[in-house]
Amino acid sequence: MLVIENLTRQYGDRRALDGVSLRIEPGSFVGVIGRSGAGKSTLLRLLNRLAEPTSGRILHGTTDVTALRGRRLRDWRARCAMIFQQFNLVGRLDVMTNVLMGRLSHVPSHRSLLRMWSEADRAMALAALDGFDMGQFAAIRADQLSGGQQQRVAIARALVQEPEIILADEPVASLDPRNTRLVMDALADVNKRYGITVVCNLHSLDLARAYCDRLVGLVAGRVVFDGRGFDLTEDVARRLYGLEAGEVLDDEPAAPALRPLPACPIREAAIGA
Ligand SMILES: Nc1ncnc2c1ncn2[C@@H]1O[C@H](COP(=O)(O)OP(=O)(O)OP(=O)(O)O)[C@@H](O)[C@H]1O
Ligand SMILES: [Mg+2]
Repeated sequence: MLVIENLTRQYGDRRALDGVSLRIEPGSFVGVIGRSGAGKSTLLRLLNRLAEPTSGRILHGTTDVTALRGRRLRDWRARCAMIFQQFNLVGRLDVMTNVLMGRLSHVPSHRSLLRMWSEADRAMALAALDGFDMGQFAAIRADQLSGGQQQRVAIARALVQEPEIILADEPVASLDPRNTRLVMDALADVNKRYGITVVCNLHSLDLARAYCDRLVGLVAGRVVFDGRGFDLTEDVARRLYGLEAGEVLDDEPAAPALRPLPACPIREAAIGA
């Protein structure tokens, strides 16, 4: 269980995250939603300790994640893999080597420096690539792949890290609809098949509802919704997205209440009268 207690991050006079408390069950797929600047990336960065909280704590089992230093902090970072919007692969290296980078925390440093990967590491990397239909690209330079392919390689790299948690920060924000589905399916697969907890920032409520067991909605660094997608009412959506609500919901078949009401003959007649 990942327990977030009253987590706050202040930047100057701005609170990027403001007293957030959450309990995240192992194996869950949590979507973090909210408009730009709501604090979604800050939350993930704090969980991974890429940023330090101003106050509050993160606990994982009996470990106080916020107090980790040195080797134990590096171990924590290996246990919660990050996926970024811009994939963060090394473009000039081949796909296989990029995936093997995910093994770095598991091999002695002299071997990793010389890129002396064991057969077992290679087999694991290839299996991860094959799992996302990317094995055929193992020898290709990463910068020759499409965005969707690169993101699937990034997920394979995260997987060979053998993480307990994957933190995905808008993993599909740069992708077309087909690749969006492939990448979200890859994350769902990792979650369901290996029981890895996924915490995923998403701008689209549509996607969040389709893929996540639980949605956490942030407004100005605070949690204003925590529940299942279909429990998220139109009022909450408007609060979460403000003027952007139309943008994130218009193409959303699961939110018919936000579509313009069909013409009602009785009302029309009343207005006409
Ligand atoms: N390193 C930083 N220095 C100063 N302010 C920051 C920093 N990181 C985040 N902020 C501020 O904290 C707030 C939350 O930012 P954050 O990036 O977490 O939002 P977000 O929900 O991820 O937005 P987006 O959807 O645009 O990615 C914003 O007002 C942002 O300007
Ligand atoms: Mg962000």
